[in-house]
Amino acid sequence: MSRIVYMLNGPNLNLLGKRQPEIYGCETLADVEGDCRKLAAELSLELEFRQSNAEHQIIDWIHESRDRAGGLVINPAAFTHTSVAILDALHCCEFPIIEVHISNVHKREVFRHHSFVSGVATGVMAGFGTHGYQLALRHLAKLIDSAK
Ligand code: DQA
Repeated sequence: MSRIVYMLNGPNLNLLGKRQPEIYGCETLADVEGDCRKLAAELSLELEFRQSNAEHQIIDWIHESRDRAGGLVINPAAFTHTSVAILDALHCCEFPIIEVHISNVHKREVFRHHSFVSGVATGVMAGFGTHGYQLALRHLAKLIDSAK
């Protein structure tokens, strides 16, 4: 099983740290990437960490991951609640997928309670802050190790 893990981030997450810090915290996406790169090295995983505000770009990266990755972590941000196209792309992947949300979406507006992505995810993390990315990575490492 491949030890490459894709970590994909959706719209507005480039503004992490500046954007609604009372909800998403003060860490930037570069901080999250740095922490995850450190952890990935400890876990002997190779990380492809990416962010885009464009739905088609995220779909293209999911397609790219199909032949390369052993697992995928995705925070689809607002596309979580709208995108059948991202759901369909994820359905084309055969490795485990972890959906991550920094905030607890279930405690927020009703329109954030539904996720198209959860239907295809192995697991869902919500409300663990930016630490959720590292928890997701650790879990993927465990799944990849046990699939050997
Ligand atoms: C989010 C939650 C979404 O509802 C929101 O649109 C985001 C971020 C989170 O990480 O908590 O942009 O995915």
